[in-house]
Amino acid sequence: MKLPVYLYGHPVLRAVSTDITPDYPGLKELIADMYAAMYESEGVGLAAPQIGRNDRIVVIDADPVKDSFPECAGRRMTLINPSVEVLDGDRTSMGEGCLSLPGISENVPRVEHIMLKWVDENFEPHEEEIFGFLARIVQHECDHLEGKMFIDHISPIRKQLIKAKLNNILNGKVSVDYPVRFAPKHRK
Ligand code: NI
Repeated sequence: MKLPVYLYGHPVLRAVSTDITPDYPGLKELIADMYAAMYESEGVGLAAPQIGRNDRIVVIDADPVKDSFPECAGRRMTLINPSVEVLDGDRTSMGEGCLSLPGISENVPRVEHIMLKWVDENFEPHEEEIFGFLARIVQHECDHLEGKMFIDHISPIRKQLIKAKLNNILNGKVSVDYPVRFAPKHRK
């Protein structure tokens, strides 16, 4: 099944997601569908709120950016109920985009060294120190589980400068070459 990516303005992207349990119905199929949606839209990560579910599930395949970021080589990860602990608070800024914010890219400050704890699709526990751009991807995706998006980390001035683009997404005036679901129309 092809899952549409929910776009900026949809309330599901602003809700805090909840932990899931091994009896989650259709988990394996859902994860496979999430990978398919991520590959279809050429993203390196996708969080469950982006396909309309407030459940703590993230898929990442960072391998496509390995030429620029060697730490991403071969990194395909399914994160269930992940948690991030900052190990070094120094922040660097780099450009980020998001499948839920088509056409927008902004520099986002993030830490480069985290401890990531998660369970995989078999609910086996893992913990690992993650560095560099992979740590950025993980933070971006885990933010989605808290109802946050990367535009929440940019300055008010930058946010003002992209306001027209954000409004275009809200109003459905954006062309995207992967299946999407726009926010429900606001009633006044
Ligand atoms: Ni995103």
